[in-house]
Amino acid sequence: MEIIRIVPEMQRRAEELRLQGRRIGFVPTMGFLHEGHLSLLDLVRRHSDISVMSIFVNPTQFGPNEDYEKYPRDFERDERLARERGCDILFYPSVAEMYPEPYRTYVNVEEITEVLCGASRPGHFRGVATVVTKLFNIVKPHVAAFGQKDAQQAIVIKQMVRDLNMDLEILVGPIVREPDGLAMSSRNKYLSGQERKDALVLYRSLQRAQELIAAGERHAARIKAEMEAIIRSVSTSRIDYIEIADTVNLRPLDRLKGEVLIALAVWIGATRLIDNVMVRV
Ligand code: PAJ
Repeated sequence: MEIIRIVPEMQRRAEELRLQGRRIGFVPTMGFLHEGHLSLLDLVRRHSDISVMSIFVNPTQFGPNEDYEKYPRDFERDERLARERGCDILFYPSVAEMYPEPYRTYVNVEEITEVLCGASRPGHFRGVATVVTKLFNIVKPHVAAFGQKDAQQAIVIKQMVRDLNMDLEILVGPIVREPDGLAMSSRNKYLSGQERKDALVLYRSLQRAQELIAAGERHAARIKAEMEAIIRSVSTSRIDYIEIADTVNLRPLDRLKGEVLIALAVWIGATRLIDNVMVRV
């Protein structure tokens, strides 16, 4: 596995691979790798000849009071996991390499970034769209993979690629969960023993929503009320949002129809967790 830390070096390597007719597959991450990230590497490797993973904790997608400083980092472990999983090139730039001063250009996807996570994290998706655009220009992938775990992020990236005529294919991989159902996340590391147990209410509430839908329930308010009761049953929880939305425009739905996204963000103690399911009604 090659490790590249310099932007023009990565660009030269990508150009060389393209000239050789090789198909580049890309997985952008913020590191502290887990099975969710590695499953995306498996996914792009099935659709490409050369796999590139990036590890970059992107400061522009964190709010001023968020966890940028304490976001977990362990490059040695990440390097080993990526290598063992068959990654060909690891792109690992510094903040100065990605955002040389003065930095002035941002990518803003409108409307669909203002709801759900965008409502409680203003500027978050502007940071994501900006860094993903930059990474696409650096890695020059033919195909890139994102996780359904961050459902809104995947929808925002697909919209951006379409709107800006970016010449690559976006794949979305399923959510990888712990055996008890908790969606894998680098942020799960923040949870204490009790909080780790309490965190199961996210997935349980989504399972309950699916049960209600299977039994014929179509009123979003009734489903959300039951989900809320499950979340509230643990004392460490605080709901950021529970929403049932259209999968294209992310607008909230009153009645379920077609393909819907059931998504939630919940604080467990000092840790904000997200989870979702897509359901075809
Ligand atoms: P990060 O949170 O490190 O996630 C990198 C990719 O892994 C994202 O596409 C995310 O959806 C996916 N992922 C995370 N947990 C997953 C799980 N349990 N199952 C499946 N996929 C999972 O998302 C980001 O980084 C950043 O916003 C980034 C796109 C890298 C831009 O900075």
